[in-house]
Amino acid sequence: MLSLIAAISENNCIGKDNALLWNIREDMKHFKDVTSGNIVLMGRNTWESIPEKFRPLPNRKNIVITRDMNYEVPEGVEIYSSIDEALEKYKNENVFIIGGASIYKQTIEKADQLFITEVHQVFEGDAFFPEIDKNVWQEVEREDHEGFSFVRYIRK
Ligand SMILES: NC(=O)c1ccc[n+]([C@@H]2O[C@H](COP(=O)([O-])OP(=O)(O)OC[C@H]3O[C@@H](n4cnc5c(N)ncnc54)[C@H](OP(=O)(O)O)[C@@H]3O)[C@@H](O)[C@H]2O)c1
Repeated sequence: MLSLIAAISENNCIGKDNALLWNIREDMKHFKDVTSGNIVLMGRNTWESIPEKFRPLPNRKNIVITRDMNYEVPEGVEIYSSIDEALEKYKNENVFIIGGASIYKQTIEKADQLFITEVHQVFEGDAFFPEIDKNVWQEVEREDHEGFSFVRYIRK
């Protein structure tokens, strides 16, 4: 199963200057609950956006995508220069694409489900989530909170 997980503002923004634009504790917990025990795959920028003391993300196999095969990562973290190669290796496991913009864009067409935290605000940023085409994606769960909602979509 291939899933994308992202927090997205009303204008589809996901970040600025290689950082998140908000700090929502419940969303961090939700992210941890959903992804724990599984594989998380991310682009090199997103890896670098995680403070060193919090990476690799615990209880998850961390995969970093970079074209630089000499890129140094801590023991246990895997690097791949091809998204498809990583996805092929773990095709029988639960893989969560955790960003960023370029990796979401390249994988949304292959994904089975989307875990989206809708942040109910407009933000100015420089990284965006691809359009969620409602002809392709069906909302199957929605949990509303103050200022944000957890939404899950599956491919129709
Ligand atoms: N709101 C959210 O849920 C969320 C989640 C994650 C990230 N973000 C935000 O997203 C932004 C980062 O997104 P981004 O698009 O700049 O970076 P990114 O997708 O995290 O990483 C981009 C890098 O990944 C590597 N890469 C991408 N496609 C590749 C391919 N096909 N083959 C090999 N390597 C490939 C390249 O690394 P090299 O340059 O090393 O070759 C590329 O520079 C930040 O603002 C971050 O905070 C938001």
